[in-house]
Amino acid sequence: MSFQDRIWLTTLLGIAVVTLGFLYVISQSGREEDPKTVQARSYALRRWVFGFLIVLGVVVTLASLRPFPIPLQRGAPQAPQVVHVIGRQWAWQMDTTIVRAGIPVSFEVTSADVNHGFGIYDSNDRLLTQTQAMPGVTNRLVYTFEHTGKYRILCLEYCGLVHHAMIRDLDVVDGTEDES
Ligand code: CUA
Repeated sequence: MSFQDRIWLTTLLGIAVVTLGFLYVISQSGREEDPKTVQARSYALRRWVFGFLIVLGVVVTLASLRPFPIPLQRGAPQAPQVVHVIGRQWAWQMDTTIVRAGIPVSFEVTSADVNHGFGIYDSNDRLLTQTQAMPGVTNRLVYTFEHTGKYRILCLEYCGLVHHAMIRDLDVVDGTEDES
């Protein structure tokens, strides 16, 4: 089942639960009951619902933070490979476009003019990682490529007329090969 199918199914289940809630309320209307009993029951229900939501929130937060896709960047030691990147209207200036797989690469990213977005895409056009290219600031992005192949760098922040053409190829070669 695709990711989208799962989201679709989850949405349908949610709609079904809300519908059942409405049907229950409709089926209960017109019944004569002591208001105190009704209130006590609704408070109990509310406690259960909020308790459930708190537990759900904690579980979802922990489960979704664990596979957080971007490794810790702060205070990272100097990576074995360093690529200096300057974004400018409208090109990426880099001291190399060849990096090795399996070895951390530190992209030191800045800008010569306006803000750009430095995004690395794999050959299936899937965004792997990104950082901002900002004038006067160098952002360090440490990433380890798992596979060799053709990658692309695209600009992720609208930066003027030719923003869409800020594309640069990045070759990831075997870790044992020499960088040239
Ligand atoms: Cu640079 Cu958009």
